[in-house]
Amino acid sequence: DWTPAAFVHETVERIKTQVGDKRVVMALSGGVDSTVAAELIHKAIGKNLFCIFVDNGLLRKDEYETVLESYKHMGLNVKGINAKDLFYGKLAGVSDPEQKRKIIGGLFIDVFQQEATHLTDISFLGQGTIYPDVIESVSVNGPSVTIKSHHNVGGLPEKMNMQLVEPLRFLFKDEVRRVGREIGISDIFLGRHPFPGPGLAIRILGAITPEKVHMLQEADNVYIEGLKEAGLYDKVWQAGTILLPVQSVGVMGDERTYEFTVALRAVTSVDGMTADWAHLPYEFLAKMSNDIINKVKGINRVVYDISSKPPATIEWE
Ligand code: XMP
Repeated sequence: DWTPAAFVHETVERIKTQVGDKRVVMALSGGVDSTVAAELIHKAIGKNLFCIFVDNGLLRKDEYETVLESYKHMGLNVKGINAKDLFYGKLAGVSDPEQKRKIIGGLFIDVFQQEATHLTDISFLGQGTIYPDVIESVSVNGPSVTIKSHHNVGGLPEKMNMQLVEPLRFLFKDEVRRVGREIGISDIFLGRHPFPGPGLAIRILGAITPEKVHMLQEADNVYIEGLKEAGLYDKVWQAGTILLPVQSVGVMGDERTYEFTVALRAVTSVDGMTADWAHLPYEFLAKMSNDIINKVKGINRVVYDISSKPPATIEWE
């Protein structure tokens, strides 16, 4: 029978045998998978694990600072890299979703590789790959259609000539969470909604500007904090806000406004492959609409996405 305790024990032993006294480098994302994988590797080899956490400027509000601090508290040997301007620069004027993903994935690899070359004697690359990633990267990028290129860190191992350490490769998400709980990882990580690698870039329809990122971070923050306060955060699989590339007329006091629209998205799902729109209470949606329009400059209209997957996807890009 599979138990988290036995899995942790066996996995730590296996990593010790695989890595020995060599060094491992690993990129952290702030998500459940990379965090649990890093902590397992850390348990096995301690200070021989070197972690890198990149700020691509497309994370949620205050996420970079908060998560970096938590990693340090966990005793992980982590280096934070502020690469915001690099990402904003290369994304300027780009509105095609797949192009955005390509640029972000490529830059991520560049930044990571550059940091990794400063480290000497690295023989292994740690990754938080889980079983659905293994299946999806086969089917999603199959020969006939590319639906969405889920970037993560694909392509790195070949480029860097390193062996992989992937402790979660045969686990499903719920098992990863159970393992995380077993090794004492905080609920800040374990209960977190999935968040796409390209981050807010694929929730800003059209071209990205730092101002739009800021606007969306503020709106997203109101929504996510609102969900938590209302006890709804843990009832949905994933939630977020999308900044639409349209402006519309509104009225604020006796001023006519012409500002942007934000769409709220919340879905229930088991694995993200199919999803239903979450039937959030009208009162809650009304409060979110008021709060966002009152607090976030540049937004005068809020809509709720009532599409399920399929035929829609969870993200809008
Ligand atoms: P979709 O939009 O395809 O999303 O229904 C399914 C799940 O995958 C996440 N997602 C991504 N994750 N890189 C990622 O790491 C990506 O390019 C990407 N696109 C979508 C999405 O947030 C949802 O959890």
